[in-house]
Amino acid sequence: MRIDKLLSNMGYGSRKEVKNLLKKGAVRKGDELIKNSQSHVDPKQDIIKVYGELVEYKEYVYLMMNKPPGYISATEDARDQTVVDLLEPEDVVFDPFPVGRLDKDTEGLLLLTNDGKLAHQLLSPKKKVGKTYYAKISGRVSNEDIILFEQGVTLEDGYVTKPAELKILTRGEISEIEVTITEGKFHQVKRMFQSVGKEVIYLKRLTMGSLTLDTELQLGEYRELSDEEYGKLRQ
Ligand code: URA
Repeated sequence: MRIDKLLSNMGYGSRKEVKNLLKKGAVRKGDELIKNSQSHVDPKQDIIKVYGELVEYKEYVYLMMNKPPGYISATEDARDQTVVDLLEPEDVVFDPFPVGRLDKDTEGLLLLTNDGKLAHQLLSPKKKVGKTYYAKISGRVSNEDIILFEQGVTLEDGYVTKPAELKILTRGEISEIEVTITEGKFHQVKRMFQSVGKEVIYLKRLTMGSLTLDTELQLGEYRELSDEEYGKLRQ
């Protein structure tokens, strides 16, 4: 890998800024001074230092965010702010993207990574990765709804959903529920409740596969996955 690409990826500035760093003699590979921005290095083996500080190379970044409402789950948007706008520059340099989408008004667990392979695995319908949501529903959610969700409901476009597990937490004019689905159709949870004559008025994702939202994270906050969380996610 070219040294300028590596340092730029690791947040040492643009390619031009990195070129200047190299020219100034700030960068060493082992004992050797590197001045040429086109020099190749092996990021896994070579010991690279900038002004004597070790560059700890990582290729991928895995971030757990508590998505706030009002943000789009995308890397860019012409009108609205995106979840990437909530990241620090040192994380943005890795070009992370959200794994799947939460609606603009949905809150909760969102994984952002630049690891396309892992994202693909988590999103593949074949893998049936479970996602649990907490929701407030306008209307009295019934035991019959539990059965209907288990059997699969027909959405307004004719699609029949895969079995979903519905738990009623409180029943009333406004009911509180948790639902686990293994698919990720557009507006899926909202449309499933529509099909049984009810409306989702608040939605928050709690889990995705083995990953559970860290309750310490306030809306809009994020952190890197722990080694344990990362390990489980890969299984
Ligand atoms: N289902 C929805 O309706 N919206 C979301 O954001 C996620 C799941």
